[in-house]
Amino acid sequence: MSIYSKLVRKHLLDLKPYSSARDEYSGKEGIFLDANENPYGSVAGDELNRYPDPYQWEIKNKLAGLKKTKAQNIFLGNGSDEAIDLLIKSLCEPGLDNMIILPPTYGMYQVCADIQQIEVRKSNLDSTFQPRLEDIESKIDSQTKIIWVCSPNNPSGNVIKRELIESLLTKYSDVIIVVDEAYIDFTGEPSFTESLEKYENLVVMQTFSKAWGMAGLRVGMAFAHEDLIAIMNKIKYPYNLNIQSQRIVLEALNKVTKKEEYVKAILSEKKGLESGLGKLSMIKHIYPSDSNQLLVKFEKAHEVFKFLMNEKIIVRDRSNVVLCDDCLRITIGTHEENQALLEKLAQF
Ligand SMILES: Cc1ncc(COP(=O)(O)O)c(C=O)c1O
Repeated sequence: MSIYSKLVRKHLLDLKPYSSARDEYSGKEGIFLDANENPYGSVAGDELNRYPDPYQWEIKNKLAGLKKTKAQNIFLGNGSDEAIDLLIKSLCEPGLDNMIILPPTYGMYQVCADIQQIEVRKSNLDSTFQPRLEDIESKIDSQTKIIWVCSPNNPSGNVIKRELIESLLTKYSDVIIVVDEAYIDFTGEPSFTESLEKYENLVVMQTFSKAWGMAGLRVGMAFAHEDLIAIMNKIKYPYNLNIQSQRIVLEALNKVTKKEEYVKAILSEKKGLESGLGKLSMIKHIYPSDSNQLLVKFEKAHEVFKFLMNEKIIVRDRSNVVLCDDCLRITIGTHEENQALLEKLAQF
């Protein structure tokens, strides 16, 4: 028996999920008169008249090989945002349980918790954007269900030290440690997916939105113990990944080298942008980044932000975020985009 028999919200363990027509027969061939679909075809063409595979097995089988894990350890969602929402829904009881976030960090952990009325406890990162384990210890109690670790972190861009994540995983073995690796492809670091067998309480999230360049498609991944994945599958909308997304992801998985080329180009552009920004006196600090974003401290961040916006160059103003005073977060663009940014900044 895994820790999830104790950690998952009680009523979900007994929940009888919606049984979709496609749960009962998984073959591709047949006369399908079970799902009240249009048998003739689709107004939009492309065989869209049929419901998709609710569990996306073809993609998961392929991904399992790529990520060196098993298909039963994979959840696919409408962006990793869906996985964030379902993880909280699976584990946290409103009015009772709490979760810990490590600001400054990705905003959706807090938003999903607020929607579900789950208490969020904050343990700010230190000045180098690393977790403070003693502070986390002081925030944890018996009702803490999740600690969210974003690595590389958004908005600071740095990788969280592996040994710190491992010590959370070991010390709090009945708390779920989510490692959000949305930006992992931009680092040389091994993914925590390799540690899934070792830690029952580990969840790793990745996404097709960043290095893969498929943000518009909305496909995210979560890797975890099969008991937790089973609960997420039980409570998700039955057909959460549409048929087009499934087809496109399957094709994309044959083009890993294309993704790697993009990563190479972005990393090379990052170097150029860092060096260009470093020459501008208005810039006080560029934080080291293992990602496709640069957190940059300006003398007058908000004014620069508005000036750039006026010039139709849109960056992210993070100056109101804890530990990011006077900071703008800049996504690495193409060479031309980065040059345009540098030229405009020089004019400010
Ligand atoms: C750290 C982090 N996690 C998750 C996401 C959301 O990813 P998705 O597009 O898969 O929902 C983002 C998006 O910016 C992010 O920065």
